[in-house]
Amino acid sequence: MELNVHALTPRFAAEVTGVDVAQAGGNLAAALKQAWLDAGGLLVVRDQDIASDKHVAFSHRFGPLFGAPGEDPLQETVSIYIHPDHPEIYRVSNQVDSQGKPKGRKGAGTYWHSDVSFRERPAGASILSAKQLPDVGGDTIFCDQTSAYAALSEAMKTLLAPLHAVHDFAQAARTQYASAVVVDDDMAGANKALHPVVRRHAETGAKSLFVNPGFTSHIEGFHEGESAALLGFLYAHCTRPEFLYRHRWSPRDLIIWDNRATMHYAVMDYGDDQPRYLERTTVIGERPVA
Ligand code: SIN
Repeated sequence: MELNVHALTPRFAAEVTGVDVAQAGGNLAAALKQAWLDAGGLLVVRDQDIASDKHVAFSHRFGPLFGAPGEDPLQETVSIYIHPDHPEIYRVSNQVDSQGKPKGRKGAGTYWHSDVSFRERPAGASILSAKQLPDVGGDTIFCDQTSAYAALSEAMKTLLAPLHAVHDFAQAARTQYASAVVVDDDMAGANKALHPVVRRHAETGAKSLFVNPGFTSHIEGFHEGESAALLGFLYAHCTRPEFLYRHRWSPRDLIIWDNRATMHYAVMDYGDDQPRYLERTTVIGERPVA
């Protein structure tokens, strides 16, 4: 099926217009998935006024979803932000309802991270639908971990090849979630995993850096200072402008990003007088391999 696809960056982001994801049968869903893989990690689908149940149905085409009946839920700390009728939908919002209950997680993802990287099977795709946006601000920045890896010297690639890093929800709980209530269960085994520092994409075969400041606590086997220095170098390297795409949201944008090949950062530069509400599904990816 022919899609109307335009590149948004030379390497890893593209947009599609003229489709209705809510009506995506097998052919359209397969074409969108291929366009997303071909784009290199990020596909913006414009003008999707999509109901939550259709969002969930479309997302299932990318794999099993966190929160779906019988599947892993997201970490307990975010359970209050899950959609009451759709356990697969994680809500992001800076607003509260008339009873003072949050409509979603405020400040979600306001740090560089790859979704749920602290699980044995971290996220594959995340699919985020914009429902309400500030007049200006509230952009999301994405970073291309595949191009960042490719740009490293052969000597650095050789150093990184055998390394593994610990991804630990406690890392975020100490820093990014410091002001939120964190549930004890989240600090236990299920939210800590060891992954290769460089992973090979299960579908494209491309290699990407797979460490992120949000959840990666340290590189295994290194002294603390060595690990901090190497991670610090990698983070400065991947977030160089040439590896970034900053998305200025338009109403009804739906973004599909690949957590296996990108990191993202939600910019919270808007006030509570500017409502922002988005719904996200998160696909359970495969166990990362080097
Ligand atoms: C997230 O990390 O999923 C939130 C992204 C955003 O709100 O822009």
